[in-house]
Amino acid sequence: MCGIVGYIGAREAQDILIDGLKRLEYRGYDSCGIAVLSPDGQIIVSKKEGRISNLEAELRDEHLPGTIGIGHTRWATHGKPSDENAHPHGDSSGATVLIQNGTVENYNELKEALRLKGHSFLSETDTEVLAHLVEDEFDNGAATLIEATRAALKRVRGAYALCILHEKEPDRLVAARSGAPLLLGVGDGEYFVSSDAASIIPYTRRVLYLNDEELLEITRDGFTKTNLDGAPLESTISEVTWSAEEAEKGGYETFMLKEIFEQPAALRRTLSSVIDPKTGELCVEGKPLTAELLRSLTDISIVSCGTALHAGMVGTYVHTDWASEFRYRRPKLNPRRMVLAISQSGETYDTLGSIRVAKEAGAPVLGIINVRESTIARESDHVLYTQAGPEIGVASTKAYTSQIAVMYAFTLYLARVRGEISDDDYEAFMRELLAVPDVIERVLADVEPIKQVAERVYDARSSFYLGRGFNFPSALEGALKNKEISYMHCEGYAAGEMKHGPIALIQARFPVFAICTKGSTYEKMVTNIEQVGARNGYIVAIATEGDDHIKTISDEVITVPEVREELSPLVNAIPLQLLAYYIARIRGCDIDKPRNLAKSVTVE
Ligand code: G6P
Repeated sequence: MCGIVGYIGAREAQDILIDGLKRLEYRGYDSCGIAVLSPDGQIIVSKKEGRISNLEAELRDEHLPGTIGIGHTRWATHGKPSDENAHPHGDSSGATVLIQNGTVENYNELKEALRLKGHSFLSETDTEVLAHLVEDEFDNGAATLIEATRAALKRVRGAYALCILHEKEPDRLVAARSGAPLLLGVGDGEYFVSSDAASIIPYTRRVLYLNDEELLEITRDGFTKTNLDGAPLESTISEVTWSAEEAEKGGYETFMLKEIFEQPAALRRTLSSVIDPKTGELCVEGKPLTAELLRSLTDISIVSCGTALHAGMVGTYVHTDWASEFRYRRPKLNPRRMVLAISQSGETYDTLGSIRVAKEAGAPVLGIINVRESTIARESDHVLYTQAGPEIGVASTKAYTSQIAVMYAFTLYLARVRGEISDDDYEAFMRELLAVPDVIERVLADVEPIKQVAERVYDARSSFYLGRGFNFPSALEGALKNKEISYMHCEGYAAGEMKHGPIALIQARFPVFAICTKGSTYEKMVTNIEQVGARNGYIVAIATEGDDHIKTISDEVITVPEVREELSPLVNAIPLQLLAYYIARIRGCDIDKPRNLAKSVTVE
């Protein structure tokens, strides 16, 4: 949520900042801005409501000279999207200029105190208060920017990642983090500050991830890392394994379409990296996941948000929880109740809050995470990585199927260790799981029927998605995908619930997407479809190849190859993602950057 970039080196900062912001635009895109320290020692700010293309247009005839600068792309929290509320923000004199991601919870209190001292503000943001707070600490006697920043941050409650420029210290950047992601890219005589490694991989793969309450002082010659009290800290540089191409569209019209088509490869990579093909052991990072621990578990709670919540729900044998609710309910946790945190970004604030509650209570935390070195990955006791590669489209696709695949691999392993599955059943299931990427490839090979259905339903105002059992989460996810990117009102229901209320909305041409592949709930789904048909609803069935009966009771049928019922959510996800995609495309939506959403949600 919000993207931060900073640059110090020998190159023109403006070009690097704009390039970095474009790569981070998926984190927020309602306004953006940059500030560059010019060779004559003045900070020049340019900011604009709307997309980065607006800012670029504004800067077309104006180049901000300078080799140190900061940039920001915003997802509004305090104050609506506008030129004034866009970052960077400055203090009264414009000498301190900063960008921030996160939320300052006590900003009102701080703002009032500063107002009494004569400060006046130009925006509605909490970030501007931070710039004035740094200025106030200079007034209180701080001698340097790092000292003033440290003192200011000690007065702040909430989450932040920030990067600051100061006219009086023209050879340095100061950056700090608490609760929102921030990293330093280490180049040759140049440094890059960013919210996400994706923005800096064209320049360097050497990265230092900051922890909470850590600050960096960066010059062209090096950097120092300290804590809020000024004590020096050790720095460990990691190598980013993602390639620059993985974060590019690679000829596809959108990132989302590319990511949908990457699913077979993402799943193959994920499965071969979580299970050792020779020993069948799980490849866990962090602390070892011992057989003793797994045998002692009485319960597993899954916490996650959005699409990751639906991935968790596919594992209905355990208890899935909205991370935003779990953390405040303070459920009874103990060392025998494992908390499984699922997150693509590894930064989602509510999921992070939940694992902190779990750890406090002594519960073991297993993370299923896509982004290495992310906060949740670092704070989990054990981590199983999905190898989906960078996911840039705001609506999650390949991360979702990779999360489900990892959950299956973990469940099978757990069942084997606990003696709850025979060797034969384990092997048969595992064989079929490993074959899923091939099945998905077959679905992706012919998207024409899905496009045709999209053409017939795209103008509906509302629609339902129905599923049962393993495919109830598929219904929720199908509905979420469509509403996220096409803005059609879509509701997912457990099909049996239809008759208790939702059926009141069914009338002629009302689209109902019914996930009705072969399995234990097939006949019940058929009954639900008949109920919709009797009221003239427009039925689009996702069905198993060769199912002739379903054609007689549906208006449209999209078929998928048969797989065992437990694995069907992986396969059924594909037509649902593509349906949402093509509906949104016909409706002319901005698919990679849907209205009001952001990829990484680092606020509550
Ligand atoms: C946001 C994204 C969703 C994502 C959810 C959880 O809402 O738009 O696509 O599923 O956050 O994100 P996580 O990174 O924790 O999987």
